[in-house]
Amino acid sequence: MVKVVLENVGKVFKGSKKAKETVAVKGFTAEFPSNKVVGILGPSGCGKTTTLRAIAGLDPPSEGKIYFEDKDVTYLPPIERDAALLFQFAVVYDNMTVFDNLAFPLMVKNINKEEINKRVKETAEFLGLSDILKKRAKGLPASINQKIALGRAIIRKPKVLLLDEPLSSLDPESRLYLRRELKKVIRSMDTTVVYVTHDQSEAMTLCDKIAVMNEGKVHQYDTPENIYLNPATTFVAWFIGEPGMNLIDCSMEASEGKYYIKIDGVSDVSFEVSKWSHALKESDKIVLGIRPEFITITKTYKKNSIAGKCLVIESFGSFALLDILTNCSPNNIIKVKTPLSDDLPKVDGDVYLTFPPAYIRLFDKKSGELRVVMTE
Ligand SMILES: Nc1ncnc2c1ncn2[C@@H]1O[C@H](COP(=O)(O)OP(=O)(O)OP(=O)(O)O)[C@@H](O)[C@H]1O
Ligand SMILES: [Mg+2]
Repeated sequence: MVKVVLENVGKVFKGSKKAKETVAVKGFTAEFPSNKVVGILGPSGCGKTTTLRAIAGLDPPSEGKIYFEDKDVTYLPPIERDAALLFQFAVVYDNMTVFDNLAFPLMVKNINKEEINKRVKETAEFLGLSDILKKRAKGLPASINQKIALGRAIIRKPKVLLLDEPLSSLDPESRLYLRRELKKVIRSMDTTVVYVTHDQSEAMTLCDKIAVMNEGKVHQYDTPENIYLNPATTFVAWFIGEPGMNLIDCSMEASEGKYYIKIDGVSDVSFEVSKWSHALKESDKIVLGIRPEFITITKTYKKNSIAGKCLVIESFGSFALLDILTNCSPNNIIKVKTPLSDDLPKVDGDVYLTFPPAYIRLFDKKSGELRVVMTE
């Protein structure tokens, strides 16, 4: 039951003759509230595991501080932190039974037999291991091994539980099941959880807050809702969402004392932004972001719409994903996600795209930072 505080945490792996120096994490500052589930989400190599290992005490940071509540733990060995770490690939004791594997962390703490039996039973029930408690772990499938390792991490009820892609080696069915159950269980445990994943749907469904990382840097540390609706940078806008936001080059123009955003390469489409012009004046170039699911698509012309041609229609049962060829830059394809209906355009058909202003986000092109949420 402790909050975990990271203060300007950085990690550099020194190079050798062959390998160059790697800046794995830089300036990670965040407070992970006690008893909440915080996600660290980002593409491969962005520094997630390095951050987690520093919190666990396996590999101290090169700079910055880590606190558990008010205690500076930056250089404390793992054993003095009361943190449990679970890796992607489970380590289980092959020649022990499943029961003994689960009981092991409690046995070394000299907990009485009755309590051990009770906790093993509870944990096994939650993870669906009750029927195999007497079996030896040797030869069990990877998915079961991962469940045992997860059980061993949570049975200790550690103050801080650090999970590094714990579901990624499981089969899809167990993965979905555990994902749903995990949040419920970790909440009842008085544990602060840090959950590392590159899978956004896992992070969005499991976590109270998420730190989105890229190339060692935290781009946004926020609630899943805010990360989805108001991404702090163009990287987050693109990375979150399936697919991510469309990012379209724009310019601001003044006319008769008012300011407008015009989409480069497209005539007759503009959005008044006088209210936010002060926030945009500093930007040489502006990027308009809009999620594929918030675009309205029609087969007939609408005022202030972008003309395009439908190149690809992918049907996903309840919705369709369309690639629309336009004159927008830097990428002339705009993705549109729309419910399936009889009124969908045909491949090669002409279409018109309307962007509801409330869903438009404006970013500075150079820094990638969010400048304007048009609803505010
Ligand atoms: N022990 C090490 N020595 C040198 N470089 C390392 C070491 N560990 C990690 N790195 C480098 O640091 C960067 C961040 O690695 P890290 O393992 O933290 O990424 P990750 O986000 O966990 O990636 P993945 O999703 O693939 O697990 C990478 O460029 C990686 O190659
Ligand atoms: Mg990793």
